[in-house]
Amino acid sequence: AEYDLLVLNGLMVTVDKMGEFDIAVKDGKIAKVVQKGGLDGAQAKKIINAQGGMVMPGGVDAHVHLQEPALFGKGESADSYETGTRSAICGGTTTLITFAPQRKSEPSLLSALAATHHLARDNCYTDYSFHLICSNAGPKAISEFAALREEGISSLKIYMTYEALQLKDSEILDVLFEARKQKIVTMIHAENGAIIDWTIKKLEEKKLFAPKYHVTSHPPVAEIEATYRAISLSGFIDVPILIVHVSSPAAAQHISEAQQKGLPVYAETCPQYLFLTRKDLDKPGFEGAKCVCSPPPREGEQDHEGIWKGLEDGTFTVLSSDHCPFLYEDTNIGKKSVISAEHPNGHFKYIPNGCPGVETRLSLALSANRLKLQKFVEVTSTNAAKLYGLYPRKGALIPGESDADLTIWYPEKNDFQLTNSMLHHNVDYTPYEGKTLNQWPRYTVLRGEVIWARDEGGLIAKKGVGQFLKRDVSTLAGSRSHGEWSVEDF
Ligand code: URP
Ligand code: ZN
Ligand code: ZN
Ligand code: ZN
Repeated sequence: AEYDLLVLNGLMVTVDKMGEFDIAVKDGKIAKVVQKGGLDGAQAKKIINAQGGMVMPGGVDAHVHLQEPALFGKGESADSYETGTRSAICGGTTTLITFAPQRKSEPSLLSALAATHHLARDNCYTDYSFHLICSNAGPKAISEFAALREEGISSLKIYMTYEALQLKDSEILDVLFEARKQKIVTMIHAENGAIIDWTIKKLEEKKLFAPKYHVTSHPPVAEIEATYRAISLSGFIDVPILIVHVSSPAAAQHISEAQQKGLPVYAETCPQYLFLTRKDLDKPGFEGAKCVCSPPPREGEQDHEGIWKGLEDGTFTVLSSDHCPFLYEDTNIGKKSVISAEHPNGHFKYIPNGCPGVETRLSLALSANRLKLQKFVEVTSTNAAKLYGLYPRKGALIPGESDADLTIWYPEKNDFQLTNSMLHHNVDYTPYEGKTLNQWPRYTVLRGEVIWARDEGGLIAKKGVGQFLKRDVSTLAGSRSHGEWSVEDF
């Protein structure tokens, strides 16, 4: 046959183009995109009739934690590379950028990278890359940035909180300075660790231990202050940063102001800040622990509105999941691991921080019907590919350039209720149990191969189809003064 796959009659939605186009796939790549009807008579091994449906570039989720040790509380990640990428592909996401965590006791980033490669290799259902988490910013780690670039890694994550991960401001400057030289994008977890630790002590003195006090212990000011500080430090060095998982509209306001000044400050938000509130942590018993993440969900609708607005107006570059999976029931490694004789109802301080969401990210956002379709594609796929050096191989449907990664949606006849039993992660709950949705991908295609066919067997590929992606320099971010990266000032 002339082609491996034809996707006909659908509404194609990319950032650059929206309309009725037919798509031809050959050798895992987009071969042709032509006006509907233009591929009549073409021969192909497989044809998908997308009449009435929408065809988008596969989702790119650039914030996913898989198979990490206990770093944010007690538990270890419940999802392996196998189960986490499986969950992603069943929800329409074809590329993940997960984290390769360096421990503070380990001076080398390259060894953290090697260890994470070992976990992922031959186990994935999606294509994948890694951000290095730099928690020991000593000379050894800094000296390895250039080698990371050779290995196809063009981004790092650093933390301003969590004892096991937090960097001092001087260490942040060390990282940012070398990141500029090596054209690396630095992701920053912006919460003030001291404010959080101080507030935790105050709550403990009053014997307030319930899950809902996690929200009290992570006040907006901790996020706002750290966001402003991160912007200031990166502005001083003149290097691009991305503030991860922004939950507070007031923090987003600082980001927007920096962007208006022309600073290369990018930002990410996540579904938990669009759909959850502090009330979700204020439930009888220990139930609220299911929605413990940092930063926490905020007060209510006004905050959600502010975050949606930031997505619409470009303050947020990406909508990622921050999938950080922990079992609920497991008393060894799950959220309930914090229940003890001393704290029979648990203690919020020890609850592992993070919610699952790699499979629900796209459906939640699309079902909300809030973003224009091209904006939806931009923040859930294209921008992540651009920001992290994967574009136009990922995040686009450009003939001869892009991988044939497709998510195909059909209008659902009926709304349906999300339940955890529909999902493919290794977590025993979803924070969105019972939520009404009206969208779920019918097909997910990875490099021309149908991996998820909702009504024809579900997951129909084997693990190991996903490949490691060597990434290049960001095509979105550069330094301010020169419109490109520069190191001449220090
Ligand atoms: O609560 C969260 N977000 N857990 C994951 C760790 C992180 O900081 O992203
Ligand atoms: Zn974080
Ligand atoms: Zn809301
Ligand atoms: Zn995270």
